[in-house]
Amino acid sequence: MGLHLMTPTFFVTRQIPQAGLAHLAQAGTVRVNPHDRQLSTEELITLGGEAVGWITMLTDVISEALLERCPKLRAIANYAVGFNNIDIAACTRRRIGVSNTPDVLTDATAELTWALILACARRVVEADGWLRRGLWRGWQPLEFLGTQITGQVLGLIGAGRIAMRVAEMSRGFHMPIQYTARHPNPDLEKRLAARRVPLEELLAQADVISIHVPLTESTRHLLGSGQLRLLKPSAILINTARGPVVDEAALLEALRQKSFGAAGLDVYENEPRLTPGLAELPNVVLLPHLGSATTETRTRMAMLAAENLIAMVQGRRPPNPLNSQLWP
Ligand code: DGY
Repeated sequence: MGLHLMTPTFFVTRQIPQAGLAHLAQAGTVRVNPHDRQLSTEELITLGGEAVGWITMLTDVISEALLERCPKLRAIANYAVGFNNIDIAACTRRRIGVSNTPDVLTDATAELTWALILACARRVVEADGWLRRGLWRGWQPLEFLGTQITGQVLGLIGAGRIAMRVAEMSRGFHMPIQYTARHPNPDLEKRLAARRVPLEELLAQADVISIHVPLTESTRHLLGSGQLRLLKPSAILINTARGPVVDEAALLEALRQKSFGAAGLDVYENEPRLTPGLAELPNVVLLPHLGSATTETRTRMAMLAAENLIAMVQGRRPPNPLNSQLWP
């Protein structure tokens, strides 16, 4: 990676917490998207074409065609742990460094996973809406009965940082843990007595299933109609990872048929659009991709993205490289 002797220009594709922008400003000139919305590809090129380093959002699609038209670009720091929005191979071919923001959002995303689990189990959103509509007539012995979580089987799809944290948080609920992952996670097995099982077994046995895999070609539609059919009638399915891991049309159909208990979703197949009909169902809790959305976490993400970008533009290995072969 070449050293840039002139003051570099950075481009940030959305307004992010000020701390990150201030950090970036110590190392170069910062240009931020002036609009309060996502930019089109043309706008990204027009506004960012002169910059050597970009901080991108998970909503920015960084394709080979875009890179082709930004010859000055040397580094991209994605403001997310997920990086399925970036063609990493194309960046590597052009010697453009890419980084992400792992670790700093693990707690926040695990906490939101638990918010969805409990909201589904105890019908929190449904009951809140009912009360607000003025329908409550006083305590009833059989009203809004939910499911107890304590002692139920937790099934984790994926065994990375966020899955681990969700598992740790489950200890207070005394939940036996099963997980499915390409490779065993000895820490998860030793510390939390988790048992690695095939996906089909986990889907059929777990009471609460939570998805924590990245979106890749092998995880796209990992759960389709065949897999959803395996869920227990009372099962709760949570997705705080990436929408396309679940076939949303199949999910809608399964929820319509009430073939399993409830779903808690923070991510969707075609964000920000939802499959028509999903928002009308009572047995699903829907959030607008808020996994990392706490003030503390977003500030840490901004600082980390800035650190990564500065390092890459200065020719140093960043803390969180995604194409580490560029910094031997
Ligand atoms: C991520 O970082 O990948 C989350 O989905 C959003 O912060």
